[in-house]
Amino acid sequence: MDVHTGDAPLPKRELIARLRARQGLVCLITDAVDDEVLVACPDLRAVANVAVGFNNIDVAAATRRGVVVTNTPDVLTDTTADFTWALLMAAARRVVEGDQYVRQGRFKQWEYMVLLGGDIHGKTLGVVGFGRIGRAVARRGLGFGMRVLYQDAVPAGPEVERELRATRVDLPTLLRESDFVTLHTPLLPETRHLIGAQALAAMRPTACLINAARGPVVDEAALVEALRERRIAGAGLDVFEEEPKVHPGLLGLTNVVLAPHVASASYETRLKMANLAIDNCLTVLEGGTPPTPVNPEALASRRA
Ligand code: DGY
Repeated sequence: MDVHTGDAPLPKRELIARLRARQGLVCLITDAVDDEVLVACPDLRAVANVAVGFNNIDVAAATRRGVVVTNTPDVLTDTTADFTWALLMAAARRVVEGDQYVRQGRFKQWEYMVLLGGDIHGKTLGVVGFGRIGRAVARRGLGFGMRVLYQDAVPAGPEVERELRATRVDLPTLLRESDFVTLHTPLLPETRHLIGAQALAAMRPTACLINAARGPVVDEAALVEALRERRIAGAGLDVFEEEPKVHPGLLGLTNVVLAPHVASASYETRLKMANLAIDNCLTVLEGGTPPTPVNPEALASRRA
């Protein structure tokens, strides 16, 4: 076993050099596993991402080469949903601005009109991408008496819709009617810049946008403009278009809450993610079916 203990991801050349002749890789979203890596490491049989998202891996190339890719769904769903709500509430009720206000010594007396925010309870929550995490976010909205709208290519089914009191609508309707728009879609060619200038213009001027999915789902430059001109009220972002870079325009704005891609970062969940990834990797190497494969068809081709 070869363990990379540094904080920075390995440069591609070093990754290849260390992975060559190995059978399994347990990796993070900062490790790009593309066809070049796969070709250079012909003994590789398993790539176990310690994340639910896997846009850092060329899954099609892996499948072609019989390499099984796995991810870590489920174990991080509730933790990510909790943090989505932390961003939502911080943006709506201006928690970070309040913190700054106190630290800067500006809290001289109680004031009736200081740091007014928008209510959350009783409002409309628009969930874009109604998979595991989107649904967990919606479920928390029930406690706030919210009306839930969702947009997803696949309907959730009447039972889930009834339980979550959720209604499937198209994206323009969701943007027009929601007080909070929260993104939970994977990064795919069709979701890149899903929220651009046009989508932002369709949102309410009192609405907040929350993104704990993938940065490139939002056109960051367009978001900066919308926030600067107060065409929307606020935003909460855990992810960025070119992580770890953050659009400089965001840094100067007070109506956006920024976090360094930490939605799943609880002690308990990070441990579960690591254990699941290792279990996935070892199971493939032992010839079994891993708990959470992304491309089960690669398993079949391996066995054929
Ligand atoms: C994921 O799991 O995809 C997160 O973005 C990283 O934990």
